[in-house]
Amino acid sequence: MNWNSARVRALGLLTVGAVVALTGCGSSSSGSASTSSSGSAAAAGGAKKNITIGFAQVGSESGWRTANTTSIKAALTKDAGFTLKFADAQQKPENQIQAIRSFIAQKVDVIAFSPVVTTGWDSVLEEAKAANIPVILTDRAVDVKDKTLYKTFIGSDFIEEGKRVGEFVSTTYGTKPINVVELEGTTGSAPAIDRKKGFSDAIASNPNIKVVASQTGNFTRSEGKQTMEGLLQSQKQIDVLFAHNDDMALGAIEAIEAAGKKPGVDIKIVSIDGVKDGMTALSTGKINYIVECNPLLGPDLATLAKKVVNGESVDARIVTHDDAFDQAGATKALPDRKY
Ligand code: AHR
Repeated sequence: MNWNSARVRALGLLTVGAVVALTGCGSSSSGSASTSSSGSAAAAGGAKKNITIGFAQVGSESGWRTANTTSIKAALTKDAGFTLKFADAQQKPENQIQAIRSFIAQKVDVIAFSPVVTTGWDSVLEEAKAANIPVILTDRAVDVKDKTLYKTFIGSDFIEEGKRVGEFVSTTYGTKPINVVELEGTTGSAPAIDRKKGFSDAIASNPNIKVVASQTGNFTRSEGKQTMEGLLQSQKQIDVLFAHNDDMALGAIEAIEAAGKKPGVDIKIVSIDGVKDGMTALSTGKINYIVECNPLLGPDLATLAKKVVNGESVDARIVTHDDAFDQAGATKALPDRKY
């Protein structure tokens, strides 16, 4: 597809009506003032002064996501040289696709997004490429045939996160037979797929560990609670809960307490993220171990966006650093915790 047909298609879709609210942040300009594509600034021989960036966020499903959005909005400001167009997809991939098409129609300089799920992105990313708009993936991966459809992908190694949780469970609780239940993240999302794999690989060689149930809680506190209520009824014995994020663990804690059991004692809880609420629960003994997933991607995204718009080369994959915490570690880290 050439530039014109991509643009016409995007404009046509835009007139059908955007369901995603686009909010200009950092500047009230409509975006039409910045129409250069990635190549043109570099071709003109100078760094672009103001970069219009479209960011399509997953939603606001968790404390992690809120911290991620805050970091992005704080970094992509007018003072830093950006006009940010921010779209909240409310955890719906179709909303994200519509937002990206809207960004293409508005001829933003660069598009960044954290994909809700891994699949279904080929066409819209081909449209961005045809419009000569570079794409940056943040936080979550896409499964596309052509890896040149995006310039770079910055975020955590989710398989490694799941593996670290699995290793902790295996060495700490797997010295005797245990039943584990798993609260999975959004079905089809990179963190749900990868954390499950990492955990499962890490416990595979320990015959004491049995995963007796694995169900989605969609990364939200309310669905984590609801799914855990069902698991407490359907499972005779639960020794350990592995929640793919803190919010689902926090929802599960409510369900466990309502069932008359002590979270962190009767049922050990391990999770991923390291948001303040999760770290507080770890510090008070209701969660037993957390592997961090760093949401503060805004400053690095700002640097990468400038580079790709100005035609500089960037690494195809940038893995961010994540820590891990036990109770003492959480207590020590909490006073300075940024999210
Ligand atoms: O993609 C990162 C994950 O998405 C976080 O672990 C979770 O809290 C969020 O919803």
